[in-house]
Amino acid sequence: MNSTSPSSTKIIPETDIIPRHVAIIMDGNGRWAKSRSLPRIIGHKNGIEAVRTAVKACIERGINYLTLFAFSSENWRRPTEEVSYLMQLFITVLQQEVIKLHENGIRFKVIGDLTKFEPEIIKFIRNGEEMTAANTRLTLTIAANYGGRWDIVQAIRKMHVQNSKLIKNFVEEDLSKHFAMNYAPEPDLFIRTGGEQRISNFLLWDLAYTELYFTNILWPDFNAGSLDLAIQSYQQRERRFGRTSEQLQE
Ligand code: IPE
Ligand code: IPE
Ligand code: MG
Repeated sequence: MNSTSPSSTKIIPETDIIPRHVAIIMDGNGRWAKSRSLPRIIGHKNGIEAVRTAVKACIERGINYLTLFAFSSENWRRPTEEVSYLMQLFITVLQQEVIKLHENGIRFKVIGDLTKFEPEIIKFIRNGEEMTAANTRLTLTIAANYGGRWDIVQAIRKMHVQNSKLIKNFVEEDLSKHFAMNYAPEPDLFIRTGGEQRISNFLLWDLAYTELYFTNILWPDFNAGSLDLAIQSYQQRERRFGRTSEQLQE
């Protein structure tokens, strides 16, 4: 997507047995809680531990980018109490964890429409991003109030601001440099827990050639072994990027 990681539709990317970038829809918190006769919010609380586990497991496996869908632009449609709880949880976890991420050499990023967040939260996020900007062990991106369609619209707006004459004849790169994930290579592996097989408005542009993996495991139960199963599935895929299988054998 950026100068170091060209678009998969322009240049065939180099691939490795370990995905460089894993993007996850962390789904199933509510059902996890329901199956234990607990309130949905307890499922969200328990999902935090699964996030810590996933971060650690990605580092141990040499994955460079982990992108987690935490709250979608459509999740505002949920009951007010659940939305407020999720927001509070997000803020609490941010305040507890950003320093720890930094100490562990992790670069922290947040993508999404932050305009709905309190100014202090936005400041806290931007400070955390600045503080961790030079870290190279893992880039952890949290998608908060993120929507793939929002991302495309905001990129077009930025492109227009930069050069309004360009709009008529723009090419892929003119637009892609404004996407929220312009600092990362496109995801190699997409994981969705919770059994649903849909994208739910996650990284619409970026997932063009990503390998998709769906599992029935509910997010709070996701662990290092679950990640390994996803990676094993990924390793069996033939990433053709439009070519034939025979061409890959050459
Ligand atoms: C994912 O779990 C977390 C968020 C969307 C914030 P859900 O809350 O969607 O859990 P289910 O899908 O209802 O089980
Ligand atoms: C997708 O999960 C969003 C996040 C995990 C943050 P949802 O549970 O909101 O998705 P749908 O509504 O089942 O498509
Ligand atoms: Mg869900």
